Amino acid sequence: MKKHIVLGVTGSISAYKSIEIVRRLIQDEFYVSVVMTKNATNLISPLTFETISHNTVYTSMFEEGSCKNVTHIKLASESDLILIAPTSYNVFGKVSAGIADDLLTSILAAAPPEKVLFAPAMNVHMYENPTMVFNRNQLLKRGYRFIEPDEGPLACGTSGRGRLKDVDSIVQEVKNNFCPALLSHKKILITAGATREYLDPIRYISNTSSGRMGFALAKACHDMGADVTLIAANSHLENPSLKCIRVETVEEMHSEVMKVYPHVDIVFMAAAVSDFKPVQIQSQKIKKTDQVLTLELKQNQDILAELGATKKHQILIGFAAESECLLERAKEKQIRKNADIMIGNDLANFSSMDGSVWIISHEHSAKLQAQSKEELATIILQTLIEQFGLLQNGS
Ligand code: CTP
Repeated sequence: MKKHIVLGVTGSISAYKSIEIVRRLIQDEFYVSVVMTKNATNLISPLTFETISHNTVYTSMFEEGSCKNVTHIKLASESDLILIAPTSYNVFGKVSAGIADDLLTSILAAAPPEKVLFAPAMNVHMYENPTMVFNRNQLLKRGYRFIEPDEGPLACGTSGRGRLKDVDSIVQEVKNNFCPALLSHKKILITAGATREYLDPIRYISNTSSGRMGFALAKACHDMGADVTLIAANSHLENPSLKCIRVETVEEMHSEVMKVYPHVDIVFMAAAVSDFKPVQIQSQKIKKTDQVLTLELKQNQDILAELGATKKHQILIGFAAESECLLERAKEKQIRKNADIMIGNDLANFSSMDGSVWIISHEHSAKLQAQSKEELATIILQTLIEQFGLLQNGS
């Protein structure tokens, strides 16, 4: 189920940045209800937020059609997080003093402080004003959390602390709220997609892997705070907001993987790598001169086996795609390629959206089931951390 974020928008000039916050939260599968103060509606039209959030925008306690008196209680209790971005000087003053004279401050009055995340934005003199300093300290003591503003040029022409934190960091804080940054000091390399081996200028050998598993893992690792490099072969999926290198052939993937490998802690080889390539690539299009065409193929380099053979501190996680005897074959590949862990994937899931997998290490095995590749990626990481000691030395 989607996490429900109430995004409070107050009358700071940086309120226009909240539009991008909503867009990013929606993209990251959050359900967003925007609540605007009256001052905020002077800066931005509620219709803009309504369009971006695909949801009702709340601007007053007593709106036509809303369940009148209880809107503030409903939004306070049914939400998973209340993000106020930007939070103005005025709203801090009201919350600190216990004033609830509009919908947003009433929601804050009805919600536990731990559920609230303030992202302040105001002029530097207002931010450093002793009343603001007092209010901030009071709110911290009561358990409210802050996304501290940045220093820099401010809308009023001055410069100093008071700029709303950048959108990336705010969205990351929201994600961290639900998914602790357990991988924050880890560098992770992930391969995804299906490599291609060209026969002639336009034809190639490949497979049906969509790349979704690798992309979902990359995003899940990134959300848990890891520094991720994704090497993607021929996937139609959009670049995620992390370092993504696009490749086509096994040779290109091999070369990019080897550059990154010495600098990473963990590798997920989720790509479906072509085992064979043509002995010779024809420089011109192959013509149908005979009834039968015989292709001469030779084995490609095995990237995972090479990583296994040269492994130092890295933890290697391979994927075994099998159409039968999944467990035995995954185990055999783990030993042959010197991987720490294999994730056994039934070929029935290969290009589908969801599925189940086995996780196999030298000591344990576990079967995981999920509704989507995204959910599966999160469950795989949780299981690797909790049951397979991913964050300890070795597996
Ligand atoms: N792999 C690799 N380089 C290759 C082939 C596979 O790095 N040339 C990696 C895959 O990314 C995966 C693991 O090895 O993590 C197992 O891949 P899989 O295709 O299941 O196994 P193969 O080694 O190709 O063995 P087989 O063809 O016998 O199933």
